[in-house]
Amino acid sequence: METLLLSVPNENSKENIKKAAEILKSGGLVAIPTETVYGLAASAFSGETVKKIYSAKGRPSDNPLIVHIAEKNEIYPLVTKASDKAEKCMDAFWPGPFTAVLKKSDKIPTEVSGGLDTVALRCPQNKIARAVISAAGLPLAAPSANSSGLPSPTTANHVISDLMGKIDAILVSPDCEVGVESTVVTFATDPPRLLRPGGITAEQLREILPDLVIDPAVTNKLENGQKAASPGMKYKHYSPAAEVVMVSAEGKAFADYCNQKSNGFEVALCFEEDLPLLKIKALSLGGREDYEAQAERLFARLRELDDLKVKKAAVHAPNKRGMGLAVYNRLIRAAGFKVVEL
Ligand code: TXA
Ligand code: MG
Repeated sequence: METLLLSVPNENSKENIKKAAEILKSGGLVAIPTETVYGLAASAFSGETVKKIYSAKGRPSDNPLIVHIAEKNEIYPLVTKASDKAEKCMDAFWPGPFTAVLKKSDKIPTEVSGGLDTVALRCPQNKIARAVISAAGLPLAAPSANSSGLPSPTTANHVISDLMGKIDAILVSPDCEVGVESTVVTFATDPPRLLRPGGITAEQLREILPDLVIDPAVTNKLENGQKAASPGMKYKHYSPAAEVVMVSAEGKAFADYCNQKSNGFEVALCFEEDLPLLKIKALSLGGREDYEAQAERLFARLRELDDLKVKKAAVHAPNKRGMGLAVYNRLIRAAGFKVVEL
């Protein structure tokens, strides 16, 4: 299939936004930028169209999609009810990197919900994303626009490298600012539960939801036979081809461990503070406590490991504070939960 590359540097690129909307309205797939990562969008009302998302990404069909809307009031036809707690969070964090899981209405096809009776909803902040949703006049189902299992795409080039020839169009727009995906909270249970940490931090959520529960799968591997509260938790994720090992260490211990030849590391994904101490190739994620910078660079750095054809990499375990929790959650999965504690 021929994939159109549509240049959309900002929300005023009216002509190409209109083209994207036409493709979406006629049942096509278009990759669009959001403030978190690029998404692969299709009409959330068409089960048949949504099936094409799963095949373009190679995504398991029981892993449900997030539905994107341009204004909060667009959720009401899509859900049966929204609790007060959900309303408060949507008011506080929308538009923005926050996703609410609510009981779905019949308008949401089962292909979108992965067979569940809930739907994940998000109102993105990115102006281009909002312009495309409005121009299409449709809620858009959009998972991250990567091949399933690979790191999520934060630049148009990442999308081109994964999906060229498999979808109708890719919007060539600026890089994503947040860099990790939205925070997913389910309100189908009470107390509400954090299923995936992301651009809105657990600390921000707790100001509104003091009773928020953090699902254990955010930081720990699901045991065999344990049921995932969010299907996405059980799949291999964010993985470069390299074997990645997370090394939990303070100060100089990380660099010392990486420098030991017998450990076989070719590259260290590290913090600025580690750079002067490392004798192997180092890719910095940012300062040890600069969680925003770490989030923004994370996926591009993981993709760099593949570009460099690295076989074994060490990653310095991040702190779990603020957006660091989201960075930790992605890296522990990239490492397949392989952790060395020093
Ligand atoms: O920032 C984001 O959220 C990006 C951009 C494109 O908006 N989208 C994204 O979608 O990350 P995706 O499909 O890669 O991740 C959606 C996550 C998955 O882990 C999925 O299992 C979970 O949300 N999810 C979706 N619907 C759900 C539901 N009804 N109940 C529980 N988890 C759900
Ligand atoms: Mg994804």
